[in-house]
Formats: sequence, structure tokens, C-alpha cells
Amino acid sequence: MSKRREFLIKAGLAAGAFSVNSMFNKVHASDFSALDRNYGHIAPKVLAEDEDFWSVIQQAYPVSRNIINLNNGGVSPCPKVVAEAVEKYNVLSNEGPSYFMWRILDMGREPLRNKLATLAGCDSEEIAINRNATEALNTVVFGLNLKAGEEVIGTKLDYPNMINAWKQRSTREGIIYTQLDFSFPTEDDDMIVSAFEKAITPKTRVLHITHVINWMGQILPVKKICDMARKHGLKTLVDGAHSFGLLDFKIPDLGCDYFGTSLHKFLSAPIGSGMLWIKRENIEHIWPLVCNDKPTGGDIRKFETLGTRSFPIEQGIGEAINFHEAIGSKRKEERIRYLKNYWAEKASEIKGVKIHTSLKDEYSCAICGVSVEGLTASDLEQKLFNDHKIHTVPINWENVNCVRVTPHVYTRKKDLDVFVKALQNIAGKA
Ligand SMILES: Cc1ncc(COP(=O)(O)O)c(C=O)c1O
Repeated sequence: MSKRREFLIKAGLAAGAFSVNSMFNKVHASDFSALDRNYGHIAPKVLAEDEDFWSVIQQAYPVSRNIINLNNGGVSPCPKVVAEAVEKYNVLSNEGPSYFMWRILDMGREPLRNKLATLAGCDSEEIAINRNATEALNTVVFGLNLKAGEEVIGTKLDYPNMINAWKQRSTREGIIYTQLDFSFPTEDDDMIVSAFEKAITPKTRVLHITHVINWMGQILPVKKICDMARKHGLKTLVDGAHSFGLLDFKIPDLGCDYFGTSLHKFLSAPIGSGMLWIKRENIEHIWPLVCNDKPTGGDIRKFETLGTRSFPIEQGIGEAINFHEAIGSKRKEERIRYLKNYWAEKASEIKGVKIHTSLKDEYSCAICGVSVEGLTASDLEQKLFNDHKIHTVPINWENVNCVRVTPHVYTRKKDLDVFVKALQNIAGKA
């Protein structure tokens, strides 16, 4: 039996609360096994271009084909099997909430923690399950012991929720919050690492690093920054909202201390799911955001005292991991990068069109910015939607002005052809 088929069977047996009944196993295991038999020997980068393989994945998403959704960077849809699992758990919860939620579904949390830990390549005692990246990262921002006068360094291109969290600590408690000013895209890792290093002062305690910049998709050299920070005795907090479930990496390999992510972006888990990873030795030094009876304890579960929340959404994460693992992390990364390059390379040849993102493998995947000379980002976004039913998002943040375009595994090449044609049409008239 091939390793992948063996995995598929195991995945079905460890899905979470309803493990033996995994919806993934019922709906997809045989399809994916067949795919694996036919395509298992092909390298991910080559397979990225195989439309027959990816058409099976595309069909697993029940997305509307009335619009072309190229804003998967905001939030992504779930495969049908994940959405159906959430629905099934919701119906069940409503049949007797306190019994089915707290005595049945809640039993799935520890198996789920193990599954997330396997995916993240870490110890399951380092994983807390929560509702989104904002919650995960704010837990660390507000949970760190920092005194007035101690400094945190981030950038102006970090996500607003995190910038605001640090600013609130600065206003309320007098910590120093310094923001670096980068002009992206760049293909110069050393420039980024040395900008962080030069900003370090004797008061610096923490670096805040966004793994993939949401505004135009620049990938930061997280490991290099964290390695440098460790030499200076600093802690590192990584915002992995756009990297987890997209790039093929294991969290401990980044060399950071804390990592927060949403699971409803590239992992395609139910909307409203997230995860916090804290290196084991750091757990007792972070206070929970929502109080717990052992706030200075070393049990990662102290970050899960969230009160009543959606157990169906939480358990749906297990099915999303099954789906993701069955595709394979590297295959998924390569396919989404291929789709991004497919449209961006064609678009870059259109007169008046500018690409705002490096197209080299190390510096981008999925997210890419585009603009048309003579049009604001909002003008372009509106033309794309009103005239072509293509959904994107206009970006006006600091020095970034473009429309952000983000395909996902369910995006078809023919959708991207429509998008490139639309750009041609709009640029021709602009
Ligand atoms: C870089 C980055 N960090 C954090 C977040 C917050 O994610 P969520 O809304 O899931 O909390 C986002 C959302 O798009 C983001 O782009």
C-alpha cells in the first residue's frame, strides 16, 4: 500500500469527535487514492500544471461560479465535505446543546490538537485552538510581560489588528512600539534582516514579523530574522495568517517563539477558526487573554478558556486537515504559486499594467498586487466587479496602492484567462 493511501486511511480514523465516521473518508478517500495512484510519482512543481489532477480538487468546492472570487486572501471557502461536517455538527448540537457540545463534540478537541500538531510539525502541547489569527496574536501581544520603556519592533505593513494591539499597549502601559518602513516588493532578504537588526536598541525585547504581507504578498525571510533576533536575546512573534496551509513548512523550523494563524484562509477550515503555537518553554510566561484559573501555568489549554463558542466550527477543522493532507502541502503550495504566476506573467505584458509583487518562488505565493495606469485601486476593483464579475480587493495602505488578487486551489485556469482579458480590456480603455 502506498504511503499516501495508508495516510488517507489513518486520516479518516483520526478526524476528531466523529473520527470513525470521517466525512472526508466517505466522500473523497477513494477519489484521492485514485489520484495518488495515477499522479503520485509526479513532482509537485510539474503536477501544478496538470489540469486533470486539479479539476478533481476544484469540484470538491461548492463555490459560486457566477462570480470569479479572487479574494481568497481575505477568507477562503471550505470544501463541501468541511461545510457539511459543520452543518451536521450544528444540527446535532441543536438537538441537545449542553450534551452534544460539551460531552460529545468537546471530546474531539484533543485528537484535533494532535492533528494540528502533526500538520504544524510540533508537540501537541504547544497548540491552542481558537477563533482566528487576531485572537491568537492578541493573546501574545497582551500576554507578554513588558514594562514601560521596553520596546517592540514591527513594520508599517503588519496587519492593522496587530498594529492597533501594540499601539494600545504603548498608550496604556508606556511600552515603545517602533514600526519599520519598507518598500516592497523586494528580492533582498539581507536588506530586510539588516533593517530589523539596525533598529534594535538596548530596550528592544520583541520583534513582530508578518510571514506573508497581506497587502501585496511579499514573503519575509522569517527564519533569518528569528535567527538574528535570538543572537540579540529577543523574542519573536510571527503572524502566519497567510502562510499556514499555503507554504510547506513546519512551525518550529522558523525559529520563532510564538506563531498565530487563522485556519479559514489557505487551510480552508470553517470560517472562524484559528490556532496559536507557543514554544513550550514560553507558555508559562504568557498570560491568557481570557482569564484562566492557572494564568501562569505551563498548560497550553489555559489559552482556550473562551467560554461558549462554536464546537461545530472547531470540529470541522479536522475535516479540512484531512482534505489538505490528502492534496499534500507541497503540491498545494506549488499549484497556488503556479496559478498566481500564470495570470501575473500574462498581465505584466499588457501595456499600462503593473505588477506589485516579486514573482520569484521565495518571495511570493498566492497573493499578488496589480494596478492599471491611470486608475486608482478602487476604480480598478469596481471595474473588475461591475463589468466582469471578478471579485478582488483594493489596497490603499501606507505605500501600497494596488488591487490584491488571490487564487486558491479551486480557481480554474479559465477563470484566470477571463481575469487577464478583463485587465486587457480595462487597460486598453484607461
Ligand atoms: C497578515 C494578517 N494577519 C492577521 C489577519 C487577521 O486574520 P483574522 O481576521 O482571521 O483574525 C489577517 C487578515 O486578513 C492578515 O492578513
